[in-house]
Amino acid sequence: MEKTNGFRLSEQVVRELADRNGTPLLVLSLDEVEANYRMLKKHLPMVSVYYAMKANPDLRLVRRLADLGSSFDVASDGEIMALAEMGVAPHRMVYANPVKTMSGFAACRKTGVRKFTFDCESEINKMAKAVPNATVLLRIRIDNTGAHVDLNKKFGASPADAVDLLLRARAAGLDAAGLCFHVGSQMTSVAPYLTALRLARQLFNDAKEAGLDLRILDIGGGFPIPTPDLDLDRGEMLATIGKEVAALFPDTEIWAEPGRFICGTAVNLITRVIGVSERNGQPWYFLDDGLYGTFSGVIFDHWDYELIPFKEGFAIPSTFAGPSCDSLDIMFRDKPMPPLAIDDVLLVPNCGAYTSASATVFNGFAKTEILVWEEIKDELLMGEKVLLACAG
Ligand SMILES: Cc1ncc(COP(=O)(O)O)c(C=O)c1O
Repeated sequence: MEKTNGFRLSEQVVRELADRNGTPLLVLSLDEVEANYRMLKKHLPMVSVYYAMKANPDLRLVRRLADLGSSFDVASDGEIMALAEMGVAPHRMVYANPVKTMSGFAACRKTGVRKFTFDCESEINKMAKAVPNATVLLRIRIDNTGAHVDLNKKFGASPADAVDLLLRARAAGLDAAGLCFHVGSQMTSVAPYLTALRLARQLFNDAKEAGLDLRILDIGGGFPIPTPDLDLDRGEMLATIGKEVAALFPDTEIWAEPGRFICGTAVNLITRVIGVSERNGQPWYFLDDGLYGTFSGVIFDHWDYELIPFKEGFAIPSTFAGPSCDSLDIMFRDKPMPPLAIDDVLLVPNCGAYTSASATVFNGFAKTEILVWEEIKDELLMGEKVLLACAG
């Protein structure tokens, strides 16, 4: 089994950072981002990676991926312009939002982005008018059983309509080049990928019969990160997908749009208990980061975060709330936790995807600062070594 735990700060470093920089604080490891990218490429060597920037748009993370040769899945004018300003060439972006805005198209014209996805007839004329001749992939709807987040509720054409929609795109002057799908986020089973690949093969064959030679398949994102309850060898999962891709699509250009897999394990949150109370017989802990901040993933990503207290003691069901004045701002109920006190720090690993990306400044709380681990670690680990030497 390949590495399972991801990037995780030690207790000593957490305490030192909390003292030095204050809390809440996010720590991003660019080396972890790189390791995740390399793991994906190792098992899926035929795939061109288009990192889904929505998962975490931190520009230092994006820069590391760009330097590694990654391309990008973008969903808005803001993402397109951020990459263009960084010097990322337009052919390294796919505007993979099935419903595109006028400002998005304007950014495409300004920067030269001309690869799109779509899933319905009304989008065809929009694309043909905005960027004539653009290369387009049709997103098909597929089974999402087993996905942590279902991404086919909102998007995806019926496979029965696929060939017709691609022919219409071609008739409108577009380069109807292929298909894409998304099995759903944090997919913990390989089966939906295999089913989707076989369906795509069938549709490629149907398109050929209708006189359309498709040349690109985008297998989307959804690849999982390790979590305490994930019983899956992720390397094996990727290798199985790779084998099926190679068997079914030996001559096709293959793209993928991973988000969470690349950045999910690369960020740790350090947060602190700022208030303690008891309600209905249960301890309540108020933290300095909340649902409107890094824990926005509880709502938007339906994610349950692991909280590491660095404290011994009998764990009892506890409630965790954020710092705002809003009563919605409650992250977890009945989470087993040893007794905590004001000023205790908690480490929250796996905070890289769909966390800071959707944080707000509601109630005047600033977004949590993000430090890059590789820029600070030498100094901190030096301190740790000195401490260990004194203790030893
Ligand atoms: C079009 C598209 N591509 C890629 C992704 C990334 O998915 P994940 O983070 O599960 O890899 C998403 C997620 O919402 C998406 O909508």
